[in-house]
Amino acid sequence: MRGWTDGYVTEIGYTYGFHAELQPWPMADALGQRSPIRPGLPFDYCELGFGQGFSLALLAAANPQARFWGNDINPDHVAHARGLAEGAGLTNLSVSTLGFADYAATDLPAFDIVALHGVWSWVGPQQRAEIVAFLDRHLKPGGLVYLGYNVLPGWAQYLPLRELMLAGARRGQGGLADRIGGSLALAQRLRAQEAGYFRINPTVATRLDALLDRPVDYLAHEYFNESWHPTYFTDLAQALAPAGLRLAAQGRAADRWEEEALREAILTAGGSAAADDPDFAELLRDFLTNRSFRRDLFIRAGGGTWPVTARSWAALGHPRDLPRRATPATRPMEVPFDAAHAILTALLSGPQREDELLAPLAQQGPEALAVLKALDLVAPALPADGLAQRRESCGRLNALLLADAVANDRMPALASPVTGGGVAIDRVEKLFLAGLSAGADPALHAFETLETAGQRVLRDGKPITTAQRHKAELADRWDTFARRRLPVLQVLGAVP
Ligand SMILES: C[S@@+](CC[C@H](N)C(=O)[O-])C[C@H]1O[C@@H](n2cnc3c(N)ncnc32)[C@H](O)[C@@H]1O
Repeated sequence: MRGWTDGYVTEIGYTYGFHAELQPWPMADALGQRSPIRPGLPFDYCELGFGQGFSLALLAAANPQARFWGNDINPDHVAHARGLAEGAGLTNLSVSTLGFADYAATDLPAFDIVALHGVWSWVGPQQRAEIVAFLDRHLKPGGLVYLGYNVLPGWAQYLPLRELMLAGARRGQGGLADRIGGSLALAQRLRAQEAGYFRINPTVATRLDALLDRPVDYLAHEYFNESWHPTYFTDLAQALAPAGLRLAAQGRAADRWEEEALREAILTAGGSAAADDPDFAELLRDFLTNRSFRRDLFIRAGGGTWPVTARSWAALGHPRDLPRRATPATRPMEVPFDAAHAILTALLSGPQREDELLAPLAQQGPEALAVLKALDLVAPALPADGLAQRRESCGRLNALLLADAVANDRMPALASPVTGGGVAIDRVEKLFLAGLSAGADPALHAFETLETAGQRVLRDGKPITTAQRHKAELADRWDTFARRRLPVLQVLGAVP
């Protein structure tokens, strides 16, 4: 197909998401005394295959004391990342269009962290070998690798659907977007014919419906690369072992929360083999959960340990965001509501040290904090040292993101100088903040910007028919935002 590089899609750019899994400080929290980085101190971070580079640029803005590097083979992606760095005056971010092997041959520092999100299972065997060689050459002893990738058996039923769509797209007419549309239509026709594959795998129809709702840039990169290899955890572990890398923790707090619940089931299924072989135990975990994406933290041999100093926490959500029940990973949880609510309420007045936060809560405190982490409602807070510098660089990037929202619905996060990470925000919320900082009525500002662009937000998934209703809808949203989101964004320093 035209426009493919080593079989990798370049004709259509990737999406502009923020991936919270790439944030260094939650990784450090997960690793405790084995973490290669310490709050507030300098470190070197590299992201391979960074896509549009939004997450990387945001992390560079939120951690000006650290240095960030990254590569992506798509020149448009690199130009976008470079534009963010230049626009926000980020002097600690350096990006390259070189592929993994050529990038490894350049002059780079020994990294504390190398991160790859959505890359390992989207490239071929040669590129995976190049990634391992990169890690072998450029990761410090004791350094950390984050990998987010498609995993088996979670994807097993859907592999033939992707083969079908790729085969259809290869034979289609026009540009990649048209051929993707044609391949989805092909899958729909087979479903309508009650093809045996769809009959015997009923969840494939649900997956196909979900694909029909996704934007073409996401579909192009997710499903239409020549290389698309969901992998078993044990195969990944085997590939990384020659570089001295072993699994140290699951990257997502929700998965770590679930770990405890699955421990006994894994031992019941796998017996002493699972007790003796942690990689086998992980494989059993993937069969038990049937999840389709893993987020792993691997550590390289040869590092040291140090005592973890008192941690501080910041709220990412308002107490009113707290549910009584949730399913943050694959199993439902009962939220220890009163204790968790008390923690979020206390954090509304600013970050607090963990011991001080938990002192009034007796036994329920640690569990409530673990649950809030699993629900992504709290994040580690950085020391006050360096806050002024972090505020400056975050302020520059955030101003650029608010300005971008006038024309675009993308890059859905702001940088927080308090956590050294990101906080999710949608386009309308960004327009509210832009109005607020211009001294205008925020709801009116959002309304006028969107009406001028000929766009209206949806209500209950349906378009709003009149300008008057659109105005009322935005006034309602502003009201909720001002009570529940704005105080959190202010505490996080994401709003000046
Ligand atoms: C599925 S996308 C994920 C992008 C990004 N990490 C994210 O999650 O938003 C995979 C990315 O890997 C990049 N890529 C593919 N092969 C590469 C190579 N050999 N060297 C560097 N980047 C590569 C692609 O251009 C693409 O941006």
